Amino acid sequence: MMPNGKSAVVTGGTTGLGRAVAEALVNDGCQVVYAARKPAGSPLPGAHFHPLDVRDPDSARALMAAAADRFGGVDVLVANAGTSRPGPVRALSHDDWTTVIDTNLTGTFACVSAALPYLEKSPQGRIVTLSSALAVRPAPGASSYAASKAALEMFTRVLALEVAAQGITANCVSPGFIDTGMGRQLSENSAVWPVYEAKLATPRLGTGDEVAAAVRYLIGPDASYVNGHVLEVNGGLRW
Ligand SMILES: NC(=O)c1ccc[n+]([C@@H]2O[C@H](COP(=O)([O-])OP(=O)(O)OC[C@H]3O[C@@H](n4cnc5c(N)ncnc54)[C@H](OP(=O)(O)O)[C@@H]3O)[C@@H](O)[C@H]2O)c1
Repeated sequence: MMPNGKSAVVTGGTTGLGRAVAEALVNDGCQVVYAARKPAGSPLPGAHFHPLDVRDPDSARALMAAAADRFGGVDVLVANAGTSRPGPVRALSHDDWTTVIDTNLTGTFACVSAALPYLEKSPQGRIVTLSSALAVRPAPGASSYAASKAALEMFTRVLALEVAAQGITANCVSPGFIDTGMGRQLSENSAVWPVYEAKLATPRLGTGDEVAAAVRYLIGPDASYVNGHVLEVNGGLRW
């Protein structure tokens, strides 16, 4: 079943996976606010953009308040905004490290914190965070990104226990290499892509729609008893 009629906030919804998720939710009949620092190059029909910098808790609070004002509440948060700064530890700057941790981990915490007062009022609050295959698979050059996502997975699992009694679920979707956003950039980098390509059991990149399908499942009624789960969407990886 589809998550029709819910009001949903998708962070990082202007491009890549977030855009695919926001589009899928609009098509399912959800009321969608999508957010990022810059507006989308082409606006998403049927959805409303709101500016957001996840590194600023006030910005996260303003986003959730705006979505609740517009729709009368917030039922779903898809905390998708993320970034990466690849590079070996020896060469990684302090700024790059903190940008990744502040965006992927602390930024998700800020959005979840800001959304919880509204999700608690929803009959079926739903939180989905976006991890990565690299959260549990070491890859040279991915230290800050992988660490942020590993922590994000445990954050989500702890969160799930804390909010379950209020009828909220918190789950995580963990994509592998997807033909959009960061995954596409990686696949176009001929210096490193052959290493990753060799690991794909399904010999192609995933699609944004395949990741969106996992999000739709986790926020829909069929997943009402799924909580604290990390759902991998990667076609199988040989690591
Ligand atoms: N694509 C993949 O293969 C893949 C695989 C595994 C996991 N993921 C995860 O999936 C999520 C989306 O990835 P993607 O590949 O679609 O990335 P992307 O195309 O680079 O999109 C990232 C989105 O996050 C927003 N964003 C970045 N920093 C932000 C900030 N400080 N505040 C608010 N929004 C911010 C960006 O917009 P602005 O720059 O305008 O703010 C954009 O909308 C990420 O969490 C990523 O780690 C992706």
